[in-house]
Order: sequence, then structure tokens, then C-alpha cells
Amino acid sequence: MSDKKQKRRSQHWFGGTGLTGYVHRSWMRNQGRPDDFFDGRPVIGICNTWSELTPCNGHFRELAEKVKIGIYEAGGVPVEFPVTSLGETLMRPTTMMFRNLVSMDVEESIRANPMDGVVLLTGCDKTTPALMMGAASCDLPTMVLSGGPMLNGKFKGQDIGSGTHIFKFQDEVAAGTMSRDDFLKTEAGMSRSIGHCMTMGTASTMASMAEALGIALPGNAAIPAADANRGLLAQMVGRRIVKLVDEDVKMSRILTRDAFANAIKVNGAIGGSTNAVVHLLAIAGRLGIDLTLDDWDTLGAGVPTLVNLFPSGSYLMEDFYYAGGLPVVMKRIAAYLNTNALTVSGGTVAENIADAECYDDDVIRPLDKPLTENGGIAVLRGNLAPQGAIIKPSAASETLMSHTGRAVVFEDMDDYRSRIRDSGLDVTKDDILVLKNNGPVGYPGFPETGNLALPPKILQDGVRDMVRISDARMSGTAFGTVVLHVAPEAAVGGPLALVQTGDRITLDVPGRRLQLHVPDEELAARRKSWQPPAIPEDEERGYAKLYRSAVTQADTGADFDFLIGKSGAKIPKSSH
Ligand code: FES
Repeated sequence: MSDKKQKRRSQHWFGGTGLTGYVHRSWMRNQGRPDDFFDGRPVIGICNTWSELTPCNGHFRELAEKVKIGIYEAGGVPVEFPVTSLGETLMRPTTMMFRNLVSMDVEESIRANPMDGVVLLTGCDKTTPALMMGAASCDLPTMVLSGGPMLNGKFKGQDIGSGTHIFKFQDEVAAGTMSRDDFLKTEAGMSRSIGHCMTMGTASTMASMAEALGIALPGNAAIPAADANRGLLAQMVGRRIVKLVDEDVKMSRILTRDAFANAIKVNGAIGGSTNAVVHLLAIAGRLGIDLTLDDWDTLGAGVPTLVNLFPSGSYLMEDFYYAGGLPVVMKRIAAYLNTNALTVSGGTVAENIADAECYDDDVIRPLDKPLTENGGIAVLRGNLAPQGAIIKPSAASETLMSHTGRAVVFEDMDDYRSRIRDSGLDVTKDDILVLKNNGPVGYPGFPETGNLALPPKILQDGVRDMVRISDARMSGTAFGTVVLHVAPEAAVGGPLALVQTGDRITLDVPGRRLQLHVPDEELAARRKSWQPPAIPEDEERGYAKLYRSAVTQADTGADFDFLIGKSGAKIPKSSH
């Protein structure tokens, strides 16, 4: 056996001739493994988030088989293993609450088992960051393979996009311009093939982030799940991960600060989800990379949004694929990028995008005809958000970017739901809807409730946007002048907790300000009588208790404080 083979991590399990090696091999042989399975060739873990409860990842058993073909072809051996999956549409209270839990599942599954490299099968929103966070803390050679978006949604001859059109239809029903019957008929038209949401929501954004970071192969973001090329990409990933193990290219060689800077800029160019902010901060935290909330504003500043996809634009991921996908975007903004960054393809960003060609300039706009001049994320600060808050200008209304209004406050979602439809609610279109206690600790689990639906009486007047402010997140498929991730959150006593209906608030996106116009003395008096929200008895134990006690605020990624950093993939003690 060559030196290289002998030194492989997996050989600490499979290489010995004593009792331990016997035990490790013998039980694996019940799956019909030949002798050469154990001879020191790269053992590649395929981390699978397949679940029927995660419909976006429902095709992952077939996708894993394609990866295996590639691994075998390149001389490696695959071992597929499950981790907890995170189905955005079904899990309660939120998948975000379980992102950190899954990251632990991934980290410990990798470290505890004989793997030399890992392929992460990701799709639905939180599956991508959860798997990347866990794998980053182990730092083996690693590749991300996304499951791909669904085909374009269709209803009455029109394209309809996952999530985005639900919000639009909901407003139309409330305004009386769409029937409930039509609303329900759109369900099947919206989700008509395998794959994840096909707007530029969080899933497509995170698949794009993986590609921009260089941890996924070119083409990863856009190829539809139902397209034969998705399976082909999976096979190529299988081939490539074996080479990465051979070359010992660890995850930390790819995920450098330069790579994160590239991803932030690409997020601006694609009009990506605000959720990428917390996820990339959390992944960088695992790798010890000094990435801050402010980097989102400073690094992303001036990058134009080129990708004309819902929710910011008019097309969907299938169109994006036919137009050339992410390599075209990266080529068009190459001047903003660190094109020397190494990627898992074996080449640099520059090499990966050299041959990219655009086939539809309306879907991927040229630099001189962008969808929005300044894409990206604006980071706001002020006495209402001392640790920061964010807004996505490309999804907001230009007319509301500098706005002072009267706060209409909701203490939590129950309060909001009980009053928002009340025709007697004292609210005008110029007011600012403020939602408290929807942050990481407050909900708990940092839900996507920030894009509060407007009061029906406002919608009936034809108004479709108002300023909204909360400590919540927002679905990547949503839109509006929505200030999110206010930190510190209300439930831990952030200034948001002190806002009362009638207070005046200024949102000044060009000036990056979020200001509550209440004198300091008055705020101090309110603080004296403030009480943190009561925690229900059933959340005083188990994971909810762990989550509340360890989750960090939005500005540092809402990871668990004890998970930040990495421990590598040292060989644990044997139990035999
Ligand atoms: Fe899974 Fe949108 S619900 S990606």
C-alpha cells in the first residue's frame, strides 16, 4: 500500500489487522464490500438530507446514487449517511431553530466516522448552511452539491414563483382582487417538479453562495433539479471529491476571507436573500475568519444587481439557467471579485468563468443596464439597533428609503394576528409597523415573520408596501421595505423592546440610520419597568432551553456560542 493510502484518515478504522480493524471491516462487509473497499482508497461520506418531510430534497436518494458513480469512477468508495433534515414548509416553530442542531449532527457524524472527504447534499433553505457549518468545524476536503431548483411555476399561462407569489396572491385575496378558489388552484402550479424554491429565495441564494465561495462546482446554483445535467453535475462532484482528497485540499483552503468577500459581492449581483447574512457569518465563524456584519455593507457596496429574478425582478431560476447561470454573473462582475481564489474545481474563479457566455441579457443584465445600481445589503445602525439591522434595498420601495413615521407596535405574532385585520386599527400607510419578540431568543428560533402582511384596509386602498421593522428574519422570496435582524433583539432587552405605539422612527437607508425619536431619559424610565417575556413551561427543558441559552444575536450569525470555531477531524478514541 502506498504511503499516501496508509496515512488516510479512514485507515485508522480499516487498516489494522487486530480486533479493532476486524470489527470495523467485518460489519461493513454485510453490505457486500470487497477487500479493496478497505485498501486505503479515499472513503467519501455523502451527507444526505433526504426526507419526505423536506419536499425540496425529496429526490436526494437518486442524486446520491449519481455522486456514488463518480466516486467509484475516480477510484474512491462512497459511504452515504443521513443527518436530520430541515423542511422549511413543515417544521415548527422554525427550521432556523434547528440549523445549529443539524450542524452538530453533521460535525459529529463526520468526525466520528471513517471519512477522508465529504459531499454535502443540500437544497431546502437551512440544509445548506447547517451542513456547511458542521463540515467547516471538521475541515476535511468537502464539496457542496445542491439539489437544484424546481421548474418555473405556472398558473393560467403566467410564470409564478415559489413563495413570492404566495405573498402577492395573499395580498390580492385580502384586497378582493383574487378569488379564494383561484388562490388554492395555484398550489399545484407553483410546485410542479422536484427541487427547491425557484425564485431567488434562500435556497437558490445559498446554492449561489456555495458556487461563489468556490466550494461547489460551476453550474451548481442554476441547473434545475429535473434536468439531466443536475445528475451529471452530481457525477462530476463524485469524481472531483476523490481528487480533492488525493490533493488534500481542505475546506479551509477554499473558504478564505477572499472567498467570503466574493460571495458577498455575488449576493449583491444576484439580489440574494437577506438570510445569507446570518448564514455566511455563522460559517465564517466556524472557520475563524474575521467576517463582520459591516463587511456586508462595505464589501457589497456599489455592486449592481444584474440578475432579474423574483423577488427583486421578473424571472425564475429555470430562466437563469438557460441564460448561463452564475458563471455569467461572476464574469460580469469579475472586476469586483478576487478571481485568483481557489475553488474545488481545481481552478481559480478566473478559470471557472473564462468561457461563460450569456444567452439572455434581460435575465442576466449587462453591467451598464443593471436591475438596480446598488444591490446588496444595507447595514443600519442607530439607537434602535446598536448592534445593527439590515435591509435589502433592491426588494424595497424607493419612496420609503428615507422615511419618518409613527410606530404601530405589535408585542409578538399573537398580538399582530389578533389586531391586524381589525378595521378599527389606528394605522395609515405612512406609519411604521413594528414587531417585537421574533428574534433568535424571543420566538424562539428567529422566524421569517419580518415581512408582515399589511392591514387589509391599507391594501384595499391599493397600497402594497409600508416600512416594517422587527428582530425577525424574512423569507428570501419576500419583498418590501422591511428592516430585519434588529440587534440586540427585544427579548433580551434591546431598545426595540422599549418602542411604543405613537413613537416616531426614522429609517434612513442612504445614511444607514435607524433612529427612535424618544429622549434617553424616557427610554431609561421605560427600561426600568421592562420585563423579559415569560418562557412557556414546556420550553424550560430540552433543545429549546439549550437554544435559548446558547444562541448568539443576529449580527454574529445566530450560531451557538460554544460551536464557534473548529476542532478539525482528529481521530477519536476507539471503543473496541
Ligand atoms: Fe424548501 Fe423553499 S421551501 S427551498
